[in-house]
Amino acid sequence: MIRTRALRKTFRTRDKGLFGPRTVKTAVDGLDLEIPPGRVTGLLGLNGAGKTSTIKILATLLRPTSGTVTLDGLDVVGYAREARRRINLIAGGERMVYAKLTGAENLRYFGHLYDVPNPVLRPRIGELLELVGLTGAADTPVERYSRGMTQRLSIARDLRRMVAALAAEGRGVLLTSHYLTEVEELCEHVYVISGGRHLAAGSPAELKAATGSHRSVRVTVTNPSPALESAVAGFTAGLGVRAQLETTGEGALLVTVRHPEDVAGPLAGAIVAAGGAIGGLEVTEASLEDAVLALTGAAPAPAHPRSAVAA
Ligand SMILES: Nc1ncnc2c1ncn2[C@@H]1O[C@H](COP(=O)(O)OP(=O)(O)OP(=O)(O)O)[C@@H](O)[C@H]1O
Ligand SMILES: [Mg+2]
Repeated sequence: MIRTRALRKTFRTRDKGLFGPRTVKTAVDGLDLEIPPGRVTGLLGLNGAGKTSTIKILATLLRPTSGTVTLDGLDVVGYAREARRRINLIAGGERMVYAKLTGAENLRYFGHLYDVPNPVLRPRIGELLELVGLTGAADTPVERYSRGMTQRLSIARDLRRMVAALAAEGRGVLLTSHYLTEVEELCEHVYVISGGRHLAAGSPAELKAATGSHRSVRVTVTNPSPALESAVAGFTAGLGVRAQLETTGEGALLVTVRHPEDVAGPLAGAIVAAGGAIGGLEVTEASLEDAVLALTGAAPAPAHPRSAVAA
């Protein structure tokens, strides 16, 4: 179990050029996180929320200004060398690959960086290359790889599978990613932070429920009438929700209902029973993105690198 208590990181910066006044920027502001073994925990927030700073501290690449990080009781900050043998940082993005080195050399380099002992490292390099289908290209410099091969070597490409496999092995994983469908698929528990501070935590389903991010159903009715509209209103009032009605350019009626349960069938039934002809029906699942958006007031930037620490 990795645990942080009152974790804080401040940076001294000069906002107004080299000779400007020094200002203190707080990147991580009192975070209490728990990353239990055997599951994937998510860390979400907008750009600048403090995700990378937090992950770097857990991976011993950055010293916290104050607060503690422990791994099964071991002080990760004070015993960084020891902790590094048990904590790995997996970072996304192609910068993680060196062109002049071969595929195997790249993996050896990163293994040594994290003090993975040679007897462990040697077989692991083989397994990883096999996992990404690059066994035959192990001794080819990466600059001669195709784009696709480079992507496969860059562990980012296989992060999803790897993260799931690591958790299944009983390791604790903290995942930060801007690909929220990936987070939703992998994480049982998610922390949402902003300005380095805790905003919310829970399972993706709990976060969606807490922010009222529900699935929605949209039905197109091709023969609208006032009677039909009042039938829809009666049905949705019975559910305790409000239907949003719009008329399309073609004169069809669009009925949208946001509701946590599956109401598509009953709503379509009510419309047909009232004499409505259905031209289309669309169900949109609530996304974790909706929930994060509601919590932070903005959408996370797309296509950003992701990273994870595993212990
Ligand atoms: N070395 C540094 N010097 C000064 N400020 C920094 C430094 N590193 C990070 N910061 C600031 O700390 C805050 C948190 O940055 P961090 O990179 O941890 O956020 P993030 O959540 O990873 O953002 P992103 O989603 O853009 O990757 C930001 O305001 C950033 O500008
Ligand atoms: Mg970041």
